[in-house]
This record gives sequence, C-alpha cells and structure tokens, in this order.
Amino acid sequence: MAGQEIYQASTTAPVNIAVVKYWGKRDPKLNLPTNSSISVTLSQSDLRTHTTAACSSKFPSEDTLLLNSSPQDTSGARTQACFRELRSLRSALEASDFSLPKISSLPLRIVSENNFPTAAGLASSAAGFAALVRAIADLYQLPASPTELSRIARQGSGSACRSLFGGYVAWQMGTKDDGSDSLAVEVAPASHWPTMRALILVVSAEKKGVSSTSGMQITVATSELFQRRAEVVVPKHMSEMEEAIKAKDFEKFGKVTMMESNSFHSVCSDTFPPIFYLNDVSKAAIRVVEDINKKAGKIIAAYTFDAGPNAVIYYEEENTAAVAGVVKGALEGLDGWQSREIESQDAGNLDARAV
Ligand code: DP6
Repeated sequence: MAGQEIYQASTTAPVNIAVVKYWGKRDPKLNLPTNSSISVTLSQSDLRTHTTAACSSKFPSEDTLLLNSSPQDTSGARTQACFRELRSLRSALEASDFSLPKISSLPLRIVSENNFPTAAGLASSAAGFAALVRAIADLYQLPASPTELSRIARQGSGSACRSLFGGYVAWQMGTKDDGSDSLAVEVAPASHWPTMRALILVVSAEKKGVSSTSGMQITVATSELFQRRAEVVVPKHMSEMEEAIKAKDFEKFGKVTMMESNSFHSVCSDTFPPIFYLNDVSKAAIRVVEDINKKAGKIIAAYTFDAGPNAVIYYEEENTAAVAGVVKGALEGLDGWQSREIESQDAGNLDARAV
C-alpha cells in the first residue's frame, strides 16, 4: 500500500473539429460508432482542457472531479468506464513490478479547466475526456500509445478519442463487438499542412438544446436518410477526405468538409422530431463563405458546424484577408453575434483563430 503521499500529473488536450462527422452509435454503452470520422485538431493555446489528476490515501474515499471549479458527478457510466479501464492497466503494472507504489485503488481527485464555452458545440467533451484519460494515464505511468488511450477516451465521449493526437486524425469505426478495433489513428501531423487555418465563429456560448448523445440516438431510431449517410455517403467522404489531406488539396478538402456538414445537418432535420442546430447567424455564415468562394472562382473557405450554431471556417494562410477579414466584416452587427478573436501558434497543432 502507498503511504500518505499525493501522486499527481497534469496535461492538456486540444479541441478537435470533425470534417467527416461521427453521428450515430451502434453500441451506446461502449460508444461504438455507426461510421468512421476524421477531424482536425485545433491549437492548444486557445481551445483546450487542462487537467490535473491526483490520488492519495489522504483523500476522501470517493473519486472527485471539478470542472471549471464546479463539482461533477463521477458516478456516470462514461467516467466510471474510463476510471475502471485505467485502474485495471495500472493494477496490471503493479502486479508485474513490485517496486511500483500501489496507487491503483486510491481515490482520484481530478481538476479540469476549459478555456472555451462548455457544451456549446465546441467539442468540450472531446478535449475534456481526452485530458482526463491522459492525465490519469500519466499519473499511473502507463506505457500506452495515443491509439491505445483512444480506446479508453472513446468510452468517455466518442469524439474524445480523436483529441489524443494533433493534426489530422481518423477514428476508425472498427467491426468488433468489444470495440477493441474502434480506435483513433493519425492521418497526417499538423506539420504536413502548416498553412491550414481555422476561424471559429462563436455565434452562441449557451449550452446546446439537444445533446449530441441523445440527438444521435433519436436520429438512428427515426431517420431513414441516416442509413444512406452511414453506408454510402460517409465511406465516400472518408476516402475523399484522406486523399485531400494527403495531397494538401484545399479545394477537395473544402468541398468534402462542406458537403459533410450539410449531410450531417440534413439527417438532423430528417430526425423525428427534427433537430435544428443552425440558427440564422449560422446560415448567414454559410452564405458569406459561398460568396467568398464565388468571388475567388474556387473553394478557398469551408464551413462546418457540429451540434450547435457555432461555425468553424477552414482556409489557408495565404487567403487570411479574403476569408477571415471578409467573414468578420460581413457578420459584425448581426443579432446574436458575439465577437471573440483568438490567434495563436502551437507546435504540433493547427493554428486557430476564433472570432
Ligand atoms: C457532431 O462525441 O459529443 O461533434 O460520444 O455521445 O459523447 P458522445 O458524442 P460526441 O459527439 C460529437 C458529434 C459531432 C461530430 C464529431 O465530432 O464527429
């Protein structure tokens, strides 16, 4: 048994924004998806979760989790699944090396801070669970790769498995019932396409109306369009997107990104009762991007929306003025529009600029 020491590790995990969307679970308990997905990881300096995991025999016997200073329930199945998996890996290490302190059964104290709105369609659960899993894995000194940890983070929140990597990341849906092959892998590091930029339009920082978890369950149960999306549309977009990223072909990347976002929001509208995540400002942003591309005579900007009205617009650095400048100018003054600008550079991850 370990003594009275406090063991501690801290880490950060970035937000990722899917360009081929995860929407639908074939196994809600293990968070196994109905289709594969691809995301781009954003800069850690602006959009990230910072998490410290600690354990000690001095702590009260219950595991605790503070998010942005408010106590969270740790008894939920998702958090419990992550704790259980990580504890069991640590306990296997302790069994194989008697010199290691026995800390796997000590109460955990987790403290997390997000520097962006929680649950407003900015993938907070992705960064949150990725940081939680990596902080505990570091605390337990597990020799696990990001792909191995992605199997655990996925059980916290599906999209979290992609936040264990920087750059361009695919979550392969896998085929096994136990989820052992439903994992995240790197498609390309951020350094492969260093001119890629993202503009984040914080249209609303309020919590979203229908959570991703329940929204996708209702879609799977009621939308006929959904099956075609999962079986035909997404597999096509997956291979086109991988090709576009590998070839650094922005026109192709942009076209698939926008068509994917449209396809995802179409199955949301085809859900019964329908789910609407986009608002008037989101739709205005789509029109602005269309005008920018029309004026340029090619695709130089691409929008995408998750389960909320906030837009992410991808573009290449050389088009900063033609995209970021124009979007801001066109949308400023619209009702419900919040302006927030972030610009940063972060090694290993995509430069993000939020307006
Ligand atoms: C629209 O990962 O939040 O952002 O697995 O239930 O936690 P759970 O869902 P979550 O869903 C993300 C949905 C999305 C698309 C995506 O990120 O791929």
